[in-house]
Amino acid sequence: MFEDKIFKIESKLKKYISNLKDSEEDLFESMCYSLLIGGKRIRSVLSLEFCSACNGDEDFAIPFACALEMVHTYSLIHDDLPCMDDSHLRRGKPSNHVVFGEATALLAGDALLTLAFDVLTSNLSYSKQENIKILKCVNILSTCAGANGMIGGQSIDLKYENKKIDIKTLQKMHEMKTGKLILAAARGGCILAGASNSQVLAAEKYAKNLGLAFQITDDILDVNSSELKLGKPTGIDEKKTKPTYVTLLGICKSKEFVEKLTDDAISSLENFEGNTENLKRLALNLSKRSY
Ligand code: IPE
Ligand code: IPE
Ligand code: MG
Ligand code: MG
Ligand code: MG
Repeated sequence: MFEDKIFKIESKLKKYISNLKDSEEDLFESMCYSLLIGGKRIRSVLSLEFCSACNGDEDFAIPFACALEMVHTYSLIHDDLPCMDDSHLRRGKPSNHVVFGEATALLAGDALLTLAFDVLTSNLSYSKQENIKILKCVNILSTCAGANGMIGGQSIDLKYENKKIDIKTLQKMHEMKTGKLILAAARGGCILAGASNSQVLAAEKYAKNLGLAFQITDDILDVNSSELKLGKPTGIDEKKTKPTYVTLLGICKSKEFVEKLTDDAISSLENFEGNTENLKRLALNLSKRSY
C-alpha cells in the first residue's frame, strides 16, 4: 500500500549516498550496505503521509524523509554492535560490523548521521518561509535523535540490562529510543506542509501512541516471531536480560496495550482537517505485523 512512496524514498536514498562515492571505499560500502538493504521504511513513509494529509508537497519533504532513514539506519548499526545488543543479523543480512568490522561499522553510523543533516540542508535555496520550515526540521530531528531522544533511550536501555525496571521508566525508555524518531517523522511532515497548530498537535498524539505501540510489538516479536520473518535474531532481549513489556506484563497484556495505543492513535486523527485514511491503516497494519 505504501510501495510508491517507498520506491521514491529508496531511489532518493541511492542518489544521496552516491554523492559520497569518492569517499573512502570501505566506509562508503559499509554505509551503502546498511542504508540500501531494505527495512520497512516506516519513519520516512510516515513523514510523507503527514505531509500529504496536511496538503503539502511530498517532494519537498523527501530530503527530510531520507534524513530520517539515515538516522534510523545509523541507530540500528550501532544498536547491533557487540558493546550494545551484540546482534549478528539485520534486515535479513549479516549485521554491518559482521561484514565490515566494528570500527568501520561505528564510522559508517557516524557518517550516516552527519549525511542526514547534509541532505536536509543541502538545498536551502527556497523562499525564506520554506527555508525556515527546513531549519525547524533540523531542530526536530537533532533533538529527537539526541540525548533527550533516541540516544537517551538507548542509554536507559543499556543501564537496565540485568536490572529491575518499573513500568514508568520502561515506558519512558521506549518513548525515547523508538518513539522520538517516529514523533520527529510526524511533526516534521506536518511542519514542511505548513500545517495548523491543531494538525501538529493531533499528529504528535498519534505518533506518541504509535511509537510506543511499535516498540512494544517489537518486544513481543522478539519472543514469538522467527528470525526468518523478522530478518533479525529473536530472543535477543532474553539473552541480554533486557526488561521489556513482555517481561513486565506478559504477552497477552502487552498485546492488549498495543491495541489500546493503536485505537488512541487512530482516534487522535478523528478531527484532523485532511485525508488520514492511510495513516489510520498504517497504525492498524503495524499493530498486527508479524515482522
Ligand atoms: C527496528 O526498527 C528498531 C526499533 C526501533 C524497534 P524497524 O522495525 O523500523 O526496522 P527496519 O527499518 O524495518 O529494519
Ligand atoms: C532499538 O530497540 C531501538 C533503536 C533505537 C535502534 P531494539 O534493540 O529492541 O531494536 P531491534 O530489536 O534490535 O531492532
Ligand atoms: Mg537495543
Ligand atoms: Mg537491538
Ligand atoms: Mg527489539
